Amino acid sequence: MSLVLEARHIEGGYNLGAGFLKAVDNCDLYAYEGEIVGVAGESGCGKSTLAKLIMGFTKPPLKLVGGKSIVDGIDIYGLSWKERRSLWGKVVTMIPQASMNALNPTKRIRDIIFDVVKEKFPIPPSKSEVLDMAKKRFEEIGLDPVALSMYPIELSGGMKQRAVIAVSTLLNPSFLIADEPTSALDVSTQKLLLELLYTLVRKKIVKTLIFISHDIVTLRQICDKMCIMYAGEILEISDTEAIMNRPLHPYTKGLMESVISLSPSIRKTTLKGIPGAPPNLLNPPSGCRFHPRCPYAMPVCRKKEPSLREVEEGRFVACWLHLR
Ligand SMILES: Nc1ncnc2c1ncn2[C@@H]1O[C@H](COP(=O)(O)OP(=O)(O)O)[C@@H](O)[C@H]1O
Ligand code: SF4
Ligand SMILES: [Mg+2]
Repeated sequence: MSLVLEARHIEGGYNLGAGFLKAVDNCDLYAYEGEIVGVAGESGCGKSTLAKLIMGFTKPPLKLVGGKSIVDGIDIYGLSWKERRSLWGKVVTMIPQASMNALNPTKRIRDIIFDVVKEKFPIPPSKSEVLDMAKKRFEEIGLDPVALSMYPIELSGGMKQRAVIAVSTLLNPSFLIADEPTSALDVSTQKLLLELLYTLVRKKIVKTLIFISHDIVTLRQICDKMCIMYAGEILEISDTEAIMNRPLHPYTKGLMESVISLSPSIRKTTLKGIPGAPPNLLNPPSGCRFHPRCPYAMPVCRKKEPSLREVEEGRFVACWLHLR
């Protein structure tokens, strides 16, 4: 299996008046061809920022301060902003949060597609070629090509989400990042979207998918591997079922307890298993960032930061309980 994403020691954040808010700290993430990788964690833990840093979307105030991101063999930060821009949509694409509203409401879907293609190719293919490409992709993802002539407002929520995915994957990017794509959808539309994302990888329309969500239950349905973030750091990475059945990091354990005990609407905002709140990233706690909330905290946890290590085959954890 070839490596599609190799993100190493990624560090970055936002230049704010009050200082530098390091939203992502020393994160390592790998994804192989055919894999769907879930990134989970409470709101504000740095999931979207990590995604942007991985694809090189460092629009101020966001800044990379360390690490590298290699996508399908291309060293993203070895490229200029203009060169990176040309890769977005072709090599790596993000379906952003609130993507349902990302389609320009004043344009028909086919004109939105023409614009996307025109931007990406110095000599764009003809309109009929683009239309053929678009029809094929629409059919592959179960969307009636009739929608190509419609305006976004004429599409249902589910169709709009599919149209966004069709547009995002039109140029067959190797690597797709879906950032909370299901949050705004009702349960049945959500299910269809999950099936669709799964299909994109199984049909090899994209090589790898990173699926970001605060909701582990949603991630579990399609992700092979899961990565747990807290306060800008990755605390645990493992196969989905291993992590669900036997979480190793105390924070992951807390997340699982909240999943088991709460309904989806409450899950969004509360972690029943863990008292307290995530820290302010402008001034994070010393040592392990989770120590003020951790029931197992030891003296070493306040002083020294644990790094992510493979503690069992295929199981990576950053916690002193497992590193000694
Ligand atoms: N454009 C921005 N400017 C300043 N701070 C930001 C910006 N976007 C995100 N942040 C901050 O960075 C941290 C991580 O945010 P984000 O990556 O959006 O988390 P998540 O996607 O997990 O909810 C939060 O503290 C958030 O307030
Ligand atoms: S390193 Fe210490 S404080 Fe952090 S999660 Fe592990 S036991 Fe808890
Ligand atoms: Mg986000």
